[in-house]
Formats: sequence, structure tokens, C-alpha cells
Amino acid sequence: MTTRDAPLVLGIETSCDETGVGIVRGQTLLVDAIASSVAEHARFGGVVPEVASRAHLDAMVPTIERACAEAGVRLREIDAIAVTAGPGLAGALLVGAAAAKALAVSLGVPIYGVNHLAAHVAVDVLEHGPLPEPTMALLVSGGHSSLLLVPDVTADVRPLGATIDDAAGEAFDKVARVLGLPFPGGPHIDRVARDGQVTIDFPRGLTTGRDLARHRFDFSFSGLKTAVSRWVQLRAAAGESVPVADVAASFQEAVVDVLTRKAIAACRDQGVSDLLIGGGVAANSRLRALAAARCESAGIALRVPRPGLCTDNGAMVAALGALSMAKGRPASDLDLPADSSMPVTAVRA
Ligand code: KG4
Ligand code: ZN
Repeated sequence: MTTRDAPLVLGIETSCDETGVGIVRGQTLLVDAIASSVAEHARFGGVVPEVASRAHLDAMVPTIERACAEAGVRLREIDAIAVTAGPGLAGALLVGAAAAKALAVSLGVPIYGVNHLAAHVAVDVLEHGPLPEPTMALLVSGGHSSLLLVPDVTADVRPLGATIDDAAGEAFDKVARVLGLPFPGGPHIDRVARDGQVTIDFPRGLTTGRDLARHRFDFSFSGLKTAVSRWVQLRAAAGESVPVADVAASFQEAVVDVLTRKAIAACRDQGVSDLLIGGGVAANSRLRALAAARCESAGIALRVPRPGLCTDNGAMVAALGALSMAKGRPASDLDLPADSSMPVTAVRA
């Protein structure tokens, strides 16, 4: 199939607070349009589901129109629709699913309901070409922290481990709050930590003894978050100033140390030589640097999509839809459900 013959797929993502509409032709990205409601959630310190759903409703049609205009594509040229079927916020997913079904029916094209986590992996084909099979994927965002063995992103995704409490991004957001930094906190901690030193030895969850034996590829960040809070409170109670940059750098180091250590251990354990890191936290500069250094020493090839493709977007959904078509996977039924707890083993709805 030549690039010009490859199907034109429009992908819709609404699992959290980003209304994403991406258009791809085969594995080529044409446009990635985003409308975010993050500013509306900032004063609550976290995403408010009902506010997110309403924002998706307002943003959906304008974002589809903007995507088509920027790509120079007319809706009737679209060959298939892809949409995030889950996991995510139920009400938010429903808005995307309803829009996708309406488009598929009116255009008379197939619809692919896809898994959000698998889409975070699939997006990298748009930047770095075909995915090695198998690939190891470390997905780290505000909603998920998972290690996945991915023999085939369109059909076979196997969870090796996940967080047993907070997601990595959630820990960044909560610690940022303790340090008086704005929401979402990850980018602020990343920035502030550049002026700090790793001076505090915060705990690395599930990395020793029985914990490690029982949770070899799982993560835990809630003890770390509590340790940072307690450290800051003790300091403030003693009337001493809090060295925000050093606390941020030390916290960040504890998170990225565990993430990279476990990801590389999983690659070794499974005999996989390619590691992909995705999700919003993959934008973290220290995670990128430490992963690059440790992968190089371990002889593992590292793939990290550019930050705009790591955070939630419509292009990742379109990419997985297009890959599914290229592999001849069946389309979804028009009554595909929006499944807030869709398991990662279900790549398509
Ligand atoms: O993938 P994403 O946009 O949405 C979810 O599916 O959650 O990820 C958002 C998360 C937030 O928790 C945010 O604080 C975190 O990614 N994040 C970062 C950075 N940029 C975004 N965390 C650490 N360092 C960053 N540079
Ligand atoms: Zn995500």
C-alpha cells in the first residue's frame, strides 16, 4: 500500500480533560488538534469529571472542524473513525463515543473503538516508524502507571505490572501542591528541580525484600508522597524554610529511579531489547535523561515520543485505528460501549 493509498483515519480522544482530534494517513500524522479543559480544573487541584464532560461537549465540533481545516481534509474523504472506548472517565468517554458513532454513521465508514493505553503505545509509529515486536512499554501519566509487554499493539498487550496506589503523575501533582506549585504539578516540579540538588533520600516503593518479590514490576508512590509531606511539615514546624528545589529534585529522582529500574528489569526478564516510554510524565526531563543513560548501559533501544504526543491526544487514537486496519483487524460494532474500566488486555472494543 503506498502512502497515498493508505486509509485516512480520524481519531477522537476524550478519556480525561483533553478533547483530542487527530487525523492520520496510514502511519503519517496530518494533524493533531487539542482543546484542553485543564484550566477549568486547576482551582480544584484535580480533574472534575462533570466539568470535563461538559467541556468535551463544547469543544467536540469546533475541534473536529479545526482538525479538518488544518489537515486540508474534507470529512467525506475520511475512511474510518477511531475513538477511545476506555479506560477513562465514564461521562467524558461517552461524549467521544457518541461523536464518533455519529460521524461513522453519517459518513458510512467503519468505527474502531480502541484502548487508551494501547493508543499511548501506538502513537510512536507516527514519530519513529514501525514498532518492534515485541516492545516493552512504560506508560506513566496522571491516570496510569503500567509496564506492558506488547507483542502486537493491535491485538496482544500483556500487563506485567502497574501502580498499586497513586499513578506517577498523580504523585507529581500531589507533591507539587505540598510545595505550593500550581496544577498540574509535573511540569512545575520538573522546572523547579533543575535548580535543586538530590539531597534527601526519599523512599523507593516496592524495591526491596518481600515487597519486591510480590510486586516485581508494580509501582507504589503513595508512601513517597506521604514521606515528602511529612518532611516538609517537620521542617515548617521547626520554623525552618523549605528548600523547594531540593525537595522537588529529590522527589523526582525517587520516582524516575524506580520507573527506569523496573522498566529495564522487565526488558531483561522478558528478553526485550526495545523500551518505549509514553504518557504525560514521559515529558519529564530527568526521566528522559536517566532512561537514556540506563538503556544505553543495558543495550536497550529507547523510544520516547515528543512531549505533545506523550500527553493525551487524538493522533494516538487515529494511529491505533490505522494500525488495526493495516493488520486486517475487524472494526467494532456501532453499539460499542464506553468502558471506564476497560482492561488493557482488550485492545479494541
Ligand atoms: O497523559 P496525560 O496528559 O493525562 C493523563 O492521562 O493523565 O498526563 C498528565 C500528567 C499530569 O499528572 C502531569 O503532572 C504529568 O502528566 N506531567 C509531568 C510532566 N508533564 C506532565 N510529570 C512530570 N514531569 C513533566 N514534565
Ligand atoms: Zn493517557
